[in-house]
Amino acid sequence: MKEQLEAIRKGALEAIGGAQDTAGLESLRVKYLGKKGELTAVLKQMGGLSAELRPVIGQLANEVRASVEKAIEAQSAVVSERALRARLEAEAVDVTIPGKKFPLGHKHPMYAVLDDMKEIFIGMGFEIFDGPEVEQAEYNFTKLNAPEDHPSRDWTDTFYLTEDSSILLRSQTSPMQIRAMETHGVPIRMISAGRVYRKDEVDATHSPMFHQIEGLVVDKGITMADLKGTLNTIIREIYGPNTQTRFRPHHFPFTEPSCEMDIQCHKCGGKGCPTCKGEGWIEILGAGMVHPKVLRNCGIDPEEYPGFAFGMGLERLALGQFKISDMRLIFENDVRFLEQF
Ligand code: PHE
Repeated sequence: MKEQLEAIRKGALEAIGGAQDTAGLESLRVKYLGKKGELTAVLKQMGGLSAELRPVIGQLANEVRASVEKAIEAQSAVVSERALRARLEAEAVDVTIPGKKFPLGHKHPMYAVLDDMKEIFIGMGFEIFDGPEVEQAEYNFTKLNAPEDHPSRDWTDTFYLTEDSSILLRSQTSPMQIRAMETHGVPIRMISAGRVYRKDEVDATHSPMFHQIEGLVVDKGITMADLKGTLNTIIREIYGPNTQTRFRPHHFPFTEPSCEMDIQCHKCGGKGCPTCKGEGWIEILGAGMVHPKVLRNCGIDPEEYPGFAFGMGLERLALGQFKISDMRLIFENDVRFLEQF
């Protein structure tokens, strides 16, 4: 039996020394010291021993049990220390590693131009108005003095939302002139920017949805000179102080007299090139003195309070400022394109 006990001790200590984790140690404890364990099995045979041998073997058995228990305890400390170290290593934070980079967006080039515009107008004392894209024909046409048979009223030109042609997607921001005069009253200096809709085929210079900036000034003593001075100031702020401009007579139902404003082509400097279609000039806006009928439609006396108005296409301004050749790029929102600005 002595040899048996020594063999158990040897086997147990070896196995315990090689245990890798707490679970392994626990199953070794059961294997050697448990009720059905090897040591218990040996002790059960003690009944057959002589009276002299019994205390000797008993003492040895206690020693073996004590040394196995001690070994388990020691190895348990080793194992949990090792586990802790592994966890600390796995969860370690290296504060010297550079942080992850998140892609930061930026303003769309067209809205960058719009924001520049707003800044300049605000600096000149203008207020900013917001208005509906779904508009009444009354505001988009009638109160703006558009005759019943005006071509832009046609269903082939404008997106109507009702059979009776009373509600539509605004085809211009000019209805904001009416809304501003009705809600604000005179004197007034306002701009209003937003989307407008027309039944145009998509090409390099057309889109069924585009953006306009509308402007309106109504005050005592306003003349065409104020119109020209204001627009020249704005355009030179945006395109540079040496930008050449010209005003051509034109027709709009809601202004009289009416004009269009051109800037000298930024690409060829006026010589004529594909960008300006050989003209040397690029049209950028329509404008004019507010028609007396329009002022009267809004309860304003045109003799006392004359005004001027203008409307410009925002996409075209952005194309010019950033030297972009195709308007479709503005709407496609391909980040490879947008990232360049
Ligand atoms: N609304 C006109 C257009 O879309 C532009 C314009 C606005 C002209 C204000 C004169 C005055 O073409």
